[in-house]
Amino acid sequence: LLPPGLRAAYLRRVQRALIQGGSRGLGLALTEVLLARDPLMEVIVTSRNPQNSLGLQALMDQHSRALRCLALDVTDEVQIQNCAETLGSNIELDLLVNVSGVLHGENMQPERRLEEVKPETMLESFRVHTLGPLLMAKHFLPHLTHGRRAVFASLSARVGSITDNRLGGWYSYRSTKAAQNMVTKNLSIECKRRAKNLICVALHPGTVNTDLSRPFAGKVPEGHLFSPSQAAKHLVEVIDGLSPEDTGGFFAWDGQPIPW
Ligand SMILES: NC(=O)c1ccc[n+]([C@@H]2O[C@H](COP(=O)([O-])OP(=O)(O)OC[C@H]3O[C@@H](n4cnc5c(N)ncnc54)[C@H](OP(=O)(O)O)[C@@H]3O)[C@@H](O)[C@H]2O)c1
Repeated sequence: LLPPGLRAAYLRRVQRALIQGGSRGLGLALTEVLLARDPLMEVIVTSRNPQNSLGLQALMDQHSRALRCLALDVTDEVQIQNCAETLGSNIELDLLVNVSGVLHGENMQPERRLEEVKPETMLESFRVHTLGPLLMAKHFLPHLTHGRRAVFASLSARVGSITDNRLGGWYSYRSTKAAQNMVTKNLSIECKRRAKNLICVALHPGTVNTDLSRPFAGKVPEGHLFSPSQAAKHLVEVIDGLSPEDTGGFFAWDGQPIPW
């Protein structure tokens, strides 16, 4: 048996996690970091097309017992519900992280000015950043309300802070991350009544060198761009340090609170 102090620290650590949106970038790095730190860790990772992700396939080869991949498009409630049911009602999660995000693509660019606003960009961002995490909470809550400490985290972004907005632009990304923050705060209030040990938080990973940020990374000052694995380690440290009093908070990669 571990000495009591160590045992308490060990029990606080995450044993089974679900990473929503783990095909690449931060989601893949979080999966890798969690699997690497503890031989007893189990990770369920969801992705639109797990079989198309070389990173996930490589992790599956390495951790076939500890890693389970499920297909899930976070804009599709039926898939979310099926995924939650597939897990089985006896599966308890210590951590669920909503990672999926969209900023640019074939038909999507962050808006620099009003004339660039396109309803489809705003709606797609809303589906992925706001409605997705809300529906994840709706269907996965039974897996998180086992009475022990559990964390429901959504990767937000500092640019979703209304207080911190000094530059403007990026209407769709900023607004739907701000709305995601409201979902997190709202959920934390409901969970205080329904699941006292469930900690609901929004997390800002810093600026991370992934597909999402790459077109804009040139503007990042030297030393301020994290690798996905560095960023994932920071986030896991922040998650490990959370207690029930932190529920409803918005925290940066270094654990500092961010104003809403
Ligand atoms: N990178 C940064 O500097 C930064 C800064 C602040 C916040 N964030 C936030 O951190 C999170 C992760 O970003 P990242 O940098 O890792 O981005 P990324 O490398 O572009 O990865 C985005 C992930 O989201 C998934 N995704 C997109 N739409 C989805 C959908 N409808 N259903 C399920 N999954 C979907 C993608 O899956 P597919 O492979 O299937 O497309 C991919 O796994 C995002 O929420 C982002 O807003 C990132």
